[in-house]
Amino acid sequence: MTHLLEPRVIGTDVARLDGWAKVTGTAAYAFEHPLSNPAHLHPLVSEVARGRITEVDASRARELPGVLAVLTHENAPRLASTEDAELAILQGPEVHFRGELIGAVVAETPEIARHAAELVRITCETWPHDADFFPGRDDLYKPDQVNPFFATDTDQGDFDGAYSASAVRIDATCTTPMEHNNPMEPHTTVAIRDGDGLTLYDSTQGVHPVRRTIAAVFGLDPERVHVVAPHVGGGFGSKGLPHAHVVLAAMAAESTGGRPVKFAVTRQQMFALTGYRTPTVQRVRLGADREGKLNAIAHEVVELTSRIKEFAEQSAEPSRHMYAAANRRTTHRLAALDVPVPSWMRAPGECPGMFAAEVAMDELAAACGIDPIELRVRNEPESDPESGLPFSSRNLVECLREGARRFGWQDRDPAPAARREGGWLVGTGVASSVYPAGVIPGSAALVRRTGDGYEVRIGAADLGTGTWTALSQIAADALGVGLDDIVLRIGDTRFPNASVAGGSTGITGWGSAIVDAVEQFRAKFGTDPDEGDEAEGTTPHNPDRGRFEMRAFGAQFAEVRIREDTGEIRVPRLLGVFAAGRIINPRTARSQFLGGMTMGLSMALHEESVLDPRFGHVVNHDFAGYHVATNADVGDIEVHWLDEHDPHVNPMGSKGIGEIGIVGTAAAIANAAHHATGRRVRDLPMTPDRFL
Ligand code: MOS
Repeated sequence: MTHLLEPRVIGTDVARLDGWAKVTGTAAYAFEHPLSNPAHLHPLVSEVARGRITEVDASRARELPGVLAVLTHENAPRLASTEDAELAILQGPEVHFRGELIGAVVAETPEIARHAAELVRITCETWPHDADFFPGRDDLYKPDQVNPFFATDTDQGDFDGAYSASAVRIDATCTTPMEHNNPMEPHTTVAIRDGDGLTLYDSTQGVHPVRRTIAAVFGLDPERVHVVAPHVGGGFGSKGLPHAHVVLAAMAAESTGGRPVKFAVTRQQMFALTGYRTPTVQRVRLGADREGKLNAIAHEVVELTSRIKEFAEQSAEPSRHMYAAANRRTTHRLAALDVPVPSWMRAPGECPGMFAAEVAMDELAAACGIDPIELRVRNEPESDPESGLPFSSRNLVECLREGARRFGWQDRDPAPAARREGGWLVGTGVASSVYPAGVIPGSAALVRRTGDGYEVRIGAADLGTGTWTALSQIAADALGVGLDDIVLRIGDTRFPNASVAGGSTGITGWGSAIVDAVEQFRAKFGTDPDEGDEAEGTTPHNPDRGRFEMRAFGAQFAEVRIREDTGEIRVPRLLGVFAAGRIINPRTARSQFLGGMTMGLSMALHEESVLDPRFGHVVNHDFAGYHVATNADVGDIEVHWLDEHDPHVNPMGSKGIGEIGIVGTAAAIANAAHHATGRRVRDLPMTPDRFL
């Protein structure tokens, strides 16, 4: 890198700048922007998994007072691009999955729209469908690449030979279920048509990507599409790409003569419309000598995707980088089914993949009679096992050691099922954590001198993560001024292009663009600029990418208690230590790690979408049936990090932290459950019946 920023405001414990607006209820989320005379949309969704609509009778709905329009494939606007089959709704009578958008009612109130939607009679010819995901299907196929551009398969050395010659062999098949992103704020779009212009107040992880996508779908000039999202109530990846509800709202806005159309997707509709994590079946094989030194690693993954649009989760990807072994194989195979379209959910790939990989490592430690931390230390690679490139920084071993010290690991009796306390079996477990320190090129930022400071504009997103605050801190240090001198504006396509808030790349891409904008500004105007002076900068090309492997690492520790008589499982204690570069804001960073670990606990114990293959829908499609960890499920969570500064990743020395917190948590809990009970649970979630 050219130079590292001198941290002054960076690294300080700043309360989130948007916190006041949020806790006082004045922060406007997508549904809440003050707009006069809005109309309301309620969608029509398919009740069959595959088929063809043969008849639509909307007469009773149209007669209902307050109904403004009924939209179906018979009268919907034709889209300019139908390339993305998830977004190409209402273009024909075919139905591709249960819960698919097949129409809409627009009315004066949400209640009238919902009532009228029930009055629309839709007759469907039902075609045979296949929504049954099970291991050992004979129609699996190999995708060209896995999310977003990783190789589908890798093969180094001679896995089969090395594995069969190994003194100790582990062959573990682990499964993770379908899981659904459940941000607090449901997906919401408010659409306003004005001639060939379109304004969207949209709950999204990226206003610019929404603009580009929606402009192409409707054949509009991107400059005439305005997307606004200053505040977002969580996304976890499900708002990373615009889903079909955005298209439906924009279509409906053509029927209201310029009136805004509001569409908040219901919690139940989210389970079919806004993405989810694919279920996985993962076979992990490890071959090692008796001292636990790995010689062979295979990680073979089977997942589902939808028949209309492919999404391949990169679950075996972390096994390409974690541990040294000369012989290695990773594969991904998909079953294409008549189901909703899977997508991103916090740490796609790394999250389910590291569950299987780190459970297998725990099994190897037990088989060799070696402490699980020592096992990982013995297999620490000197450089990236697959590419051979050096790591820009890799402090996994330090995380494990620091975590062990803080957690009190040294007193642990490794024997399973050896500790009982009043009817509870007690155990502890550990797992590693990893997440790429990536970047998406092409973001830009604008710096402008104002009367009393600087305004910085970038079309970035804050999903509740603290990004707004962290970027303001970066801008302050880049300009060498105090935080109070910075006004940062985000979440609007009127501000310069910013990449999606995804893949934990935001701070690297956007922060680097802000630093570059400040450099351009200084080059143009020096240190004594006039009011109104402004300059734009972009995320610079980083020559260190391609020379180094860039990843954040971590170590997760868990204590688990399981009732001997009922199998009830509790996690009184989690502890994570992370090496994620320089921490921009300790307060918001701690919340990010804490949130990730909580979501990992939720994955370990609760989260499971149950898809009924007979009908092709998720039956537990609400919070009554889909359990997300709440306060009573969460015990003590300790978050720590190492004082790591990585000069290669970006000028801040930081790595992304939005996703690494979830990675490895479920494995640590499963490993602790094995230590507590002697039972090896390889299937999530770990419900009580698994221990009886
Ligand atoms: Mo994250 S799942 O890349 O938004």
